[in-house]
Amino acid sequence: MQLKKITFKINSKEITIEVDVRESLLDVLRNKLHMTGVKKGCSVGECGACTVLIDNVAFDTCIYLAVWADGKEIRTIEGEAKEGKLSKVQQSFLDEAAVQCGFCTPGFVMSTTEMLESGKVFSKEQIKKELSGHMCRCTGYHNIMLAAEKALQPAKEHGSECTGKCHK
Ligand code: FES
Ligand code: FES
Repeated sequence: MQLKKITFKINSKEITIEVDVRESLLDVLRNKLHMTGVKKGCSVGECGACTVLIDNVAFDTCIYLAVWADGKEIRTIEGEAKEGKLSKVQQSFLDEAAVQCGFCTPGFVMSTTEMLESGKVFSKEQIKKELSGHMCRCTGYHNIMLAAEKALQPAKEHGSECTGKCHK
């Protein structure tokens, strides 16, 4: 086993940790940092349950080596609510009842958050395409799409200047 010390930010907090060079970021997040909101579904990059933001881009952490995270900034679902207030995307999933067992939810929320913060406007079809790498075995996707559409609605349509970054 070859170990390597890496330093990265996780939900704004800098940490240094020793990892096996063959270890996935998913295993490090779940087993060493107890970020169990990052789910282990397929382990082969097919289900999206393990999605986090790395430097604000969504990645499947099951196929991302932990050593690659050195020097990066990682966001997991655990860091999305601020001062007890859900993020805009989390609130949309709650409002639209887009959660059943919840296993897939963190992944959907993180990818939708990446889309929201991109500042782009997405059509229904584009949202479907962007989220097509995520699987849900409970909801049939209908409410998930409603939640994503709600979160990604252009600000002027719901009378707010909020881009989602401020979590208002
Ligand atoms: S667990 Fe990573 S994509 Fe399924
Ligand atoms: S809510 Fe259960 S897998 Fe999506």
